[in-house]
Amino acid sequence: MGKARILVVDDEFHIRDWVAETLRRRNYLVETCEDGHTALEMLAKDEPFDIVITDLRMPKMSGLTLLKTIRERYANMDVLMMTAYGTIADAVTAIKDGAHDFLEKPFPQETLLIRIQKILENRKLRQENYALKRELGAKSQFDAIIGASQIMMDLYEQLQMIAPSKATVLVTGDSGTGKELVAREIHMNSPRRNGPFIKVNCAAMPETLMESELFGHEKGAFTGAIKTVEGRFALANGGTLLLDEISEMGMGMQAKLLRVLQEREFEKLGGRETIKIDIRIVATSNRDLKKEIKEKRFREDLFHRLNVCPIHLPMLAERPDDIPLLATHFLNRYAGEYGKELRGIQDRALEMLMQYSWPGNVRELQHKMERAVIMCNEPLVGPKHLFLDDLDSRPAAAAIQLSDGSAITLKEIEKSAIFRALQFNENNRTKTAEALGISIRTLRNKLREYREEGVNVG
Ligand SMILES: Nc1ncnc2c1ncn2[C@@H]1O[C@H](COP(=O)(O)OP(=O)(O)OP(=O)(O)O)[C@@H](O)[C@H]1O
Ligand SMILES: [Mg+2]
Repeated sequence: MGKARILVVDDEFHIRDWVAETLRRRNYLVETCEDGHTALEMLAKDEPFDIVITDLRMPKMSGLTLLKTIRERYANMDVLMMTAYGTIADAVTAIKDGAHDFLEKPFPQETLLIRIQKILENRKLRQENYALKRELGAKSQFDAIIGASQIMMDLYEQLQMIAPSKATVLVTGDSGTGKELVAREIHMNSPRRNGPFIKVNCAAMPETLMESELFGHEKGAFTGAIKTVEGRFALANGGTLLLDEISEMGMGMQAKLLRVLQEREFEKLGGRETIKIDIRIVATSNRDLKKEIKEKRFREDLFHRLNVCPIHLPMLAERPDDIPLLATHFLNRYAGEYGKELRGIQDRALEMLMQYSWPGNVRELQHKMERAVIMCNEPLVGPKHLFLDDLDSRPAAAAIQLSDGSAITLKEIEKSAIFRALQFNENNRTKTAEALGISIRTLRNKLREYREEGVNVG
């Protein structure tokens, strides 16, 4: 590790200078400033700091606010809080908010130096640990799932209870909300974590193929079955089987699946032997299965078999507080992957991210951040790197969500509004124009335009 870079923030210049001098004499690279705003500006500049030492009580921006902002933007920076006598309660808050440590003023030089050394040792350990963890692919409690909002806290609590059991789990939620990720985390946090995790994509296969995929087949079971093949059920033995997008499974296959779930045994296609299995089932769906049942596309008995432990994942827009966290997470990840030196995200850009409607949920945020990392050649990602269509961040656009998360143009929104209004007013053009607040002539012109584009406007 090179020399540690430290930023000292205090409005009292003699303390600031004394701390800085003490550290400089030990060869640390030290810079100073007198308030939180300046500190944030300095942190956003090119060279990264390892540690920020800040006073708690300062005019303009308090040390706690500075701390919180640092926590949001710079996952890897340590903060050491200096507090005056009698502000222990604040110091405790600071630690809870992510300060590494605090020093009660006045303190001797030696104490300061020891604390700094401790922080640096801890940083080193953390880095090694992180590298090691990545290498082993090891995961502790759900740490692949990012989110600290109340909804997510409740989710972790639910997962904590469900994961260790063998119970069947049904994970529902919109596209890109993290269903597969949650399924993997359930496996990784269960006693079966060292067993296999096998995924079956129920949407991708025709039914006949699906059967052999799940159960396997004996040589000669059907034309083209040139050798015996194990199915996913057998492969998942001792581990977890993920039935992804279960709502897309055909009715015939559903009946066969039901039997396996009830009996925990099956036969290969063309096989006589009954195979017993020990597997845990996790299924996902982004459709409302109750509605599918009503419309006779999903078996009710299968639903009840699967819905033993239901978990519903929120839309990203339902937890906007997590957006900065997720955005920073993806920023760091892709900055690493693309070898880019990025410090963080500009405030204005963060605001925009938080206002956007995220029809494609976390997956869309992930893609947008990847693109931002590629496009950004400045220390901080700004609005222009995000390619958020301004329209999309307006509430009006939120009503017209595209399920694949793609951008939507003003013209499309207009068109969609016109067709909805027409439908609502049973094709009565006078009423439709009135409802939309446009003249009947404008409406006619628009409809002619659409007709010319080849749209059937009735
Ligand atoms: N809470 C989260 N923290 C970190 N990454 C997440 C989170 N939620 C989702 N992701 C990431 O977003 C992407 C999409 O997640 P995932 O594939 O699990 O979604 P899904 O709900 O299965 O979507 P679909 O219904 O479209 O299959 C993945 O790369 C996943 O790692
Ligand atoms: Mg999925």
